[in-house]
Amino acid sequence: MHGDSLTLLGKMRSQSVDLVMTSPPFGLVRKKDYGNVAASEYLGWFRPFASQISRVLRDTGSFVIDIGGAWEAGQPTRSLYHFKLLIMLCEEFGFHLAQDFYWWNPSKLPTPAEWVTVRRIRVKDAVNTVWWLSKTAWPKASNRRVLQPYSASMMTLLSNGYKAKKRPSGHDISEKFSIDNGAAIPPNLIAMPNTESNGAYQRYCEDHGLPHHPARFPAELPEYFVRMLTDRGDLVVDPFAGSCVTGEVAERLGRRWVCAELVETYLEGALSRFPPHNNATQKPAAKPGDESGFYRVPRPGLLWNGIEGEPLPVDGGRKRPASVKTASGPKPPKTLSRSAGTPAPLPRAASTDPAD
Ligand SMILES: C[S@@+](CC[C@H](N)C(=O)[O-])C[C@H]1O[C@@H](n2cnc3c(N)ncnc32)[C@H](O)[C@@H]1O
Repeated sequence: MHGDSLTLLGKMRSQSVDLVMTSPPFGLVRKKDYGNVAASEYLGWFRPFASQISRVLRDTGSFVIDIGGAWEAGQPTRSLYHFKLLIMLCEEFGFHLAQDFYWWNPSKLPTPAEWVTVRRIRVKDAVNTVWWLSKTAWPKASNRRVLQPYSASMMTLLSNGYKAKKRPSGHDISEKFSIDNGAAIPPNLIAMPNTESNGAYQRYCEDHGLPHHPARFPAELPEYFVRMLTDRGDLVVDPFAGSCVTGEVAERLGRRWVCAELVETYLEGALSRFPPHNNATQKPAAKPGDESGFYRVPRPGLLWNGIEGEPLPVDGGRKRPASVKTASGPKPPKTLSRSAGTPAPLPRAASTDPAD
């Protein structure tokens, strides 16, 4: 649907939706740089959506919201807006936090450069929070739908056998731990890059002179929750649809769906995801032993050798290092709220577009 999702939600029957899966415009600390809602006004902006989403969701339904954090303008500290949103949704609107997920995007750039690569006083921000909320404490769900292959070390353990013993944590690990269930239960950390730059969607937009949506999520993100939280025929809604990735996934998985988006050109681009334009098919499942979809994260400490180098800056990095040239080198950014990439300014309705 092209239009304001508040109008759409207002027309939907109470208790009719099984899953609201969305990534709303993120809050910006410096107002309206890319047209997003200012973080300070975010809760007020979100309230009417929260109220409608709570009304239309079934008691067994879920509301999954992918939301990135933001940096305070001009200083190396983080905004609390996405945590405040979570608290508001639970305390004012009665949602339950079924589980908090963290989407780690290994391809995120080391930004804000000023704090991360110039002054070296913060680390790379590479995680989006994904709040899985539910109307009651018992949303329908099954982790059997999102199993993962065992890691190489678990495969070794399964083939060598595991000696039942009490772990230092006090957990009693029985022989059952070494039963091969065929797949592993995933953690609440989703590791997934967001790097697609040459797919059918982009080609279609280029061929038709349409803008690429600057803040798409990868299809695997909505797919994870659509699989885990809905059955075939259930109704999935994305009120901040962008390029309609949620709709594409829901369609492929046989769910009914409605997506609403304010910017018409984004919907024109989204047509590429559906017949007769698309020819996307489900990727084949990985073969046992295929390690290509795994990410390796080094444990902290692998480079610690006792040498600590320069003492820490006692001013916390307030003064730029003398070695950094200001004339030609990087300058302190005007806004520090984006955590990756630099999208083109948005067309029309830019007042609501995402920060990331
Ligand atoms: C972060 S983007 C969603 C991107 C989407 N998940 C994708 O992968 O393409 C948020 C979208 O919400 C849209 N939006 C903001 N306010 C809206 C409203 N009231 N009704 C409908 N869409 C809205 C913005 O135009 C923007 O495209």
